[in-house]
Amino acid sequence: MQTTAEIAEVRRHVRTARAQGARIGCVPTMGALHAGHLSLVERCRSESDYVCVTIFVNPTQFAPHEDLAKYPRPMEDDLRKCRAAGVDLVFIPDVPSLYPDGYQTWVSVEEVTQPLEGAMRPEHFRGVTTVVTKLFNIVQPDVACFGAKDYQQQATIRRMVRDLDLPVEIVVCPTVREPDGLALSSRNVYLSPEERQSALSLSASLQLAADRLATGATDLRGLEQEMIDLMHAQPGVQVQYTVLADPDSLETLTQLQPRMVGLIAAMVGKTRLIDNREFNLPQPTASPSPR
Ligand code: PAF
Repeated sequence: MQTTAEIAEVRRHVRTARAQGARIGCVPTMGALHAGHLSLVERCRSESDYVCVTIFVNPTQFAPHEDLAKYPRPMEDDLRKCRAAGVDLVFIPDVPSLYPDGYQTWVSVEEVTQPLEGAMRPEHFRGVTTVVTKLFNIVQPDVACFGAKDYQQQATIRRMVRDLDLPVEIVVCPTVREPDGLALSSRNVYLSPEERQSALSLSASLQLAADRLATGATDLRGLEQEMIDLMHAQPGVQVQYTVLADPDSLETLTQLQPRMVGLIAAMVGKTRLIDNREFNLPQPTASPSPR
């Protein structure tokens, strides 16, 4: 496994691999790797011949109050996990090499970044789309893997790649969950045992929505309220949003459609958690045409 902080080195390694016929894969991360990230690496390995993981805690996607300095940076552990996962190249740029003095160029995706996380964290997605574009320009991957856990992030990146004709295939990988349904997140370590129990109500409310939709629920606002009530019944849970939305535009739906997504953000004690689940409603079978 090669490790480098230099943009030119990344380009050199990738050029060599591509010249040997390799399809290049990329997994952008901010480090503190857990099993969710490693599932992205594994998928990327199956989609490509040469995998580059990027580790960069991107300052432009943090608001001033979000405490960028406290973000975990267990670099030795991350490199060990990358090596064990069969990564070929790890790119660990420093801040001045991605944002040199006088930096002033941004990539913004408009509508899909406005609601939900975008409403709560203005500027966040502009930072994400800018850094992901830069990483794509540096690594020039044929394929890049992102987690469905950050649902609005992957929807935004898919929109950006389509809108800007970026020559990279985006693969979205399923959320990795604990056996009891809790979505893996680097923030789960902050939960006390009681809070962890309460946090199960997020995935439980998505399961409730799946069950209700499968048995014919049509009142989407009523269903969102049931999900909220289920979560609020647990100590320490404060829901920030719960919506049933379109999986591409993320617009809140007013009526059922074949593909939908439920999106949740909630505080559990002092820890902010997000979760989501896609719902595919069975298509009505066409009635036989009269003879
Ligand atoms: O999902 C993340 O870890 C980050 O938002 C990403 C995509 C690596 C951009 O900094």
